[in-house]
Amino acid sequence: MDCDCFGNFTLKNGAALVVRKPGADDAGRMIGLMAAVDAQTRFLAREPGEFDYTEEQERELILKRSGDPFSHWVVGTIDGRFVAGCDTRRVRARKRFAHRASLGILVLKDYWRLGIGRILIRDSIRWCREMGFEQLELDVVANNHAALSLYLSEGFEITGRNINALKYRDGSYADEYVMRLPLT
Ligand SMILES: CC(C)(COP(=O)(O)OP(=O)(O)OC[C@H]1O[C@@H](n2cnc3c(N)ncnc32)[C@H](O)[C@@H]1OP(=O)(O)O)[C@@H](O)C(=O)NCCC(=O)NCCS
Repeated sequence: MDCDCFGNFTLKNGAALVVRKPGADDAGRMIGLMAAVDAQTRFLAREPGEFDYTEEQERELILKRSGDPFSHWVVGTIDGRFVAGCDTRRVRARKRFAHRASLGILVLKDYWRLGIGRILIRDSIRWCREMGFEQLELDVVANNHAALSLYLSEGFEITGRNINALKYRDGSYADEYVMRLPLT
């Protein structure tokens, strides 16, 4: 698809979700979304407050990624508010890795269980198929039951377990599952 907007969806509560690519002007909203979800869950890669991109850095990243044909980074907005993001891209530029893509996803807590995660995963899978990727991969914290259930229901399989993959500020650890969706 060659446009910046990937669709309009009606959620389970009747709200209208727009899925589109972020633009350079969205840098502040992107930072706000990332920082907010970091503080709402233990299942992302950063401790609360650790997201430290400046607006200028975020703007540069958005511009770089929007010009990268092997990147599909979208946001979900409701009434203009950034409520979700999903970042899909090839795992590496080398030919031997050209068949693999990976994804990361987050939804703002107030909007969980409305169907946004599933919409974004399906959009990611659609893009991967269009691009000819053979498998879509992700890592998920082993006790992230919501995400795990979502991924399994979309056909992902668990291929491994990374013991103590995360160490939290409080000294505790969490394992991660390695997951893969075959696309061929
Ligand atoms: C995981 C996450 C992306 C799911 O997004 P969401 O918009 O709430 O998901 P959806 O509403 O589309 O739900 C899709 C499916 O996921 C599962 N699911 C979602 N929340 C769940 C919960 N709290 N408990 C159990 N299953 C859940 C269900 O199977 C659900 O399908 P159903 O509603 O038909 O039963 C969201 O909870 C989130 O952003 N969490 C914090 C960040 C995170 O964990 N990201 C993933 C890192 S790998």
